[in-house]
Amino acid sequence: GLPDRVTVYEVGPRDGLQNEKAVVPVEVKAEFIDRLADAGHRVIEATSFVHPTWVPQLADSADLLARLERRPGVRYPVLVPNLRGLDRALDSGVEEIAVFASATESFANRNLNRGLDSQFEMFEPVVARALEHGLRVRAYVSMVFGDPWEGPTPVGQVVAVGRRLLDLGCHELSLGDTIGVGTPGHATALIEAFGTPERLAVHFHDTYGQALANTLAALRAGVSTIDASTGGIGGCPYAESATGNLATEDLVWMLRGLGIETGLDLDKLVATSVWLAERLGRPSPSRVVQALTPK
Ligand code: HMG
Ligand code: MG
Repeated sequence: GLPDRVTVYEVGPRDGLQNEKAVVPVEVKAEFIDRLADAGHRVIEATSFVHPTWVPQLADSADLLARLERRPGVRYPVLVPNLRGLDRALDSGVEEIAVFASATESFANRNLNRGLDSQFEMFEPVVARALEHGLRVRAYVSMVFGDPWEGPTPVGQVVAVGRRLLDLGCHELSLGDTIGVGTPGHATALIEAFGTPERLAVHFHDTYGQALANTLAALRAGVSTIDASTGGIGGCPYAESATGNLATEDLVWMLRGLGIETGLDLDKLVATSVWLAERLGRPSPSRVVQALTPK
């Protein structure tokens, strides 16, 4: 069966804006996040504390968090790769972080400057210290269905990396189809191979137009936390073929049709996407945003 309620984990301000050519002004980022909270979001991944020369688009993370009016009942997780990032996040009063691992050697090298195995030497102390500080910790595993250099990723390899992250004490594991190559059969098989859908989230990029179909498969397999980005913006600067995430509006349209509660106001989300598209200088790739926007 399908869940009655789904948690939409909004990644637009982080995954979306990390991939913009132009640096978005910090006050626009703050307003974006505030509009998302206003539309009913309760989890908004706000930014990253990664190396500022690796992702200059998010180098203003401390400034952004200082400006943000954090609302009670809304979580604002941030990406953190290492202890330096954790220190910076703690200085900004962050209560939730996400570490991000790769399921493949090639992407670990490119995204983290580490090998498949040595990425854990970086994450282990981060997760331990974050838990000591009482933070909530999410973990991502990327390239779960395939990567641009190695082709299809073996399911066992994804499960091994993912279990290792969960065993560190991470509260949740988000399965990332970074380049959007998976189809629903892949999603079902991977979730079943983990066997713990209540601890999983799914993070589908829509490069091949499969994100919504994969989401339905994940819901049927027992997952009830779905990552999405408002307007369908996003991508990963270290994975060239990656395009936008599943659009939050496309997700909400489908869930509403299925009678699944999200707490989100679709009209406000669409208005936010239209507002953001004006600031980014290009239309939202979301079909639902296009359909609901007056011509
Ligand atoms: P490195 O160069 O190996 O770092 O980068 P290092 O540990 O060797 O340190 C070198 C210098 O950088 C040191 O300074 C550190 O202090 C400094 P020095 O002593 O030489 O003066 N440094 C930092 N400064 C500020 N903040 C930090 C930090 N860390 C080190 N956090 C590192 C390794 C992991 C830092 C780098 O590779 C990095 O920042 N990578 C992040 C790449 C990234 O953000 N990618 C996008 C997010 S992942 C994604 O989008 C996928 C996802 O959406 C899921 C999916 O779709 O599948 C999550
Ligand atoms: Mg992503």
